[in-house]
Amino acid sequence: MAKPLPKQEDDPGTWEFGRRSFLRASGWMGFFGFITIATVGALRMMFPRTLYEPPKVFKAGMPNEYLTDTVSEKYKDTERVWICRDEEKIYALVAICTHLGCTPRWLAAENKFKCPCHGSGFTFAGINFEGPAPRPLERAKITLTETGELLVDKGTTYRFENGDWDKPDAFIKV
Ligand code: FES
Repeated sequence: MAKPLPKQEDDPGTWEFGRRSFLRASGWMGFFGFITIATVGALRMMFPRTLYEPPKVFKAGMPNEYLTDTVSEKYKDTERVWICRDEEKIYALVAICTHLGCTPRWLAAENKFKCPCHGSGFTFAGINFEGPAPRPLERAKITLTETGELLVDKGTTYRFENGDWDKPDAFIKV
């Protein structure tokens, strides 16, 4: 008499991927997927999407370091600000062209700021008078510290066309 063949599930060499196995595998995959997403989410919370910008406030020395009717370029490269002094006041002019944002140059011999990109010109005060710049340069907030040093805050700017240049922190009276 012939020996009966073993059933397929009794055969250790054969693995049948049935519905129950599929559901079990799906359950584990879902579980590990959830754990992974939760872990990644928790890690993301530890590293918030914050822009670490350089500080906008800087000290610019004592007022008497600036001569009358001069433009100081001491902070132009590092802070993009000129410190200007006339007969009555010190103000911080933002060195960003109001056309497309290039950095103008101070031309002392011509007593004007000139933008190298498209030729806009600005007076000593920062008023646009030639080229495509649509408005004057902006001024940054300038105050005195307790020790009498100039403190410039680029985070607050003042616009001539809004009448801001007469505001108290738009200049230091000398
Ligand atoms: S960016 Fe200054 S004139 Fe265009």
